Amino acid sequence: MESEVLKVEKFGAYFGDTQILKYINLSIPENMVTAIMGPSGCGKTTLIRCVNRMHELITGARVEGRILLCGEDVYKTNPILVRRKVGMVFQKPNPFPTMSIYDNVIAGYKLNGIRLGRGELDRIVEESLQRAALWDEVKDSVHRKGTFLSGGQQQRLCIARALAMNPEVLLLDEPTSALDPKATSRIEELIIELKEYVTIVLVTHNIAQAARVSDLTAFLYLGELVEFGPSEKLFTVPEDKRTEEYLTGKFG
Ligand SMILES: Nc1ncnc2c1ncn2[C@@H]1O[C@H](COP(=O)(O)OP(=O)(O)OP(=O)(O)O)[C@@H](O)[C@H]1O
Ligand SMILES: [Mg+2]
Repeated sequence: MESEVLKVEKFGAYFGDTQILKYINLSIPENMVTAIMGPSGCGKTTLIRCVNRMHELITGARVEGRILLCGEDVYKTNPILVRRKVGMVFQKPNPFPTMSIYDNVIAGYKLNGIRLGRGELDRIVEESLQRAALWDEVKDSVHRKGTFLSGGQQQRLCIARALAMNPEVLLLDEPTSALDPKATSRIEELIIELKEYVTIVLVTHNIAQAARVSDLTAFLYLGELVEFGPSEKLFTVPEDKRTEEYLTGKFG
């Protein structure tokens, strides 16, 4: 059996008195793409925001249970360190608007107060942009602002910025929902390539996308984990009636 990078145990999340996630158990193996699917409001974003400890930044938000990252309880680890090991990319591309492409890629190092020499930074920028499949398009303009790029390129820049920290896990929250089909398929190809370096958790509404790129799929419904397993099986012979109903478009 592959080694697991993330383990979610008896996990619950609340906003005030409202329970959003209920007793979630998930085991996410290394170097795979795990898709999190489910209708709007079922708790997908909340779940991944619990992994990098962003959920608790909201007043009144709390959690119960455990999330282990490489065997260490993230709730017993300094959140800054957790966020360094768990990169995140959001629905809307959000490069830092005042920064160049170069400075965007190394922003995590600056924000964490990690000082590196120019040669090392150059290497990190090139390697991260290469891995994000953006280097060839921007290598002659890395000192221009990231906001000059197309939406799809900006999203790949955000992926490069996350990869630059060498995370164990990359969380992608509907990373293509603001992109056109061509930019979307570019990102989907990239997700498959990135498995080599990082374990990926992909939140998506897009059933076809989950089927195309993920190895494992989790189906969440009303805060509960209904079904989790190999995507091939979940998409062809789902075990739970609710999964089947979702896949056939009965809700969300
Ligand atoms: N800041 C907040 N305060 C209170 N409730 C919230 C907050 N953010 C989200 N919620 C509620 O938590 C539940 C789960 O939201 P979440 O954003 O995790 O869903 P989601 O599955 O990501 O949905 P979508 O597919 O629309 O992005 C929803 O009922 C939502 O209304
Ligand atoms: Mg969401």
